[in-house]
Amino acid sequence: MSDLPFSQSCENNKQPILQTLRRLLADSAHVLEIAGGTGQHAECFAAALPHLRWQSSDIPSNVDSLNLRLSQAALDNLPVAVALDVNQGEWLLGKWPIVFMPFDASDKSTSIFAEPFKRLRRALAIKERGKFDALFSANSLHIMSAGSATNFFLGAGKLLDEGALLIVYGPFNYDGAFTSPSNAEFDVWLKERNPQSGIRDFETINATADIAGFELLEDNPMPANNRLLVWRRCAKD
Ligand SMILES: C[S@@+](CC[C@H](N)C(=O)[O-])C[C@H]1O[C@@H](n2cnc3c(N)ncnc32)[C@H](O)[C@@H]1O
Repeated sequence: MSDLPFSQSCENNKQPILQTLRRLLADSAHVLEIAGGTGQHAECFAAALPHLRWQSSDIPSNVDSLNLRLSQAALDNLPVAVALDVNQGEWLLGKWPIVFMPFDASDKSTSIFAEPFKRLRRALAIKERGKFDALFSANSLHIMSAGSATNFFLGAGKLLDEGALLIVYGPFNYDGAFTSPSNAEFDVWLKERNPQSGIRDFETINATADIAGFELLEDNPMPANNRLLVWRRCAKD
């Protein structure tokens, strides 16, 4: 039996989420995952969607445990996860994460400077600010505080360029009501653990996304009373 961090809910929801991601991310290349947790999603999605570079992340105290699974997976498109807390200033300014970007073999530039530059990049795998065309996060907004959930969207709005997708999976309330008795019980359990946690209202989250520069594209029902919400970054002013 593996001693890697493990979540049964991840195991249950990864295939239904993957089915939707196949469609949503068919034309994407670089995905940033926030709150990667055990790494089960990152491992599953990177393996099933090899056209993507899946950059996972989590808060500093969780990133080593996340990397246990990612390093064991040893997938070319699954780099080492980076430490990222949505409350850190760099995130709010759109200046994080800094990630290792691989040498771009498709760069056909023929300038006299190109070859030495390419060699340097190959050697150093230059560290640069990640450029992502999609951001994914599962089961995170009800764990972090409401203020952190706001910061999640504000930073995403700074980081992502026009057209990029923001995909969030988890439970949400609608019209101020739980969508099932099990979600109501889950909310009690969450708040006993941490009074700052709690299932978020879809309307509040969507209004925050709007302020951060996103338009809602889809609200997909998922098994076990969860949703998969999809926004698109609008043009920047
Ligand atoms: C229930 S786990 C979900 C993990 C994984 N995405 C999943 O679906 O199983 C919640 C995650 O939110 C992360 N998290 C909590 N506060 C955060 C913050 N301020 N910034 C980024 N991630 C945070 C935790 O470290 C944890 O990995």
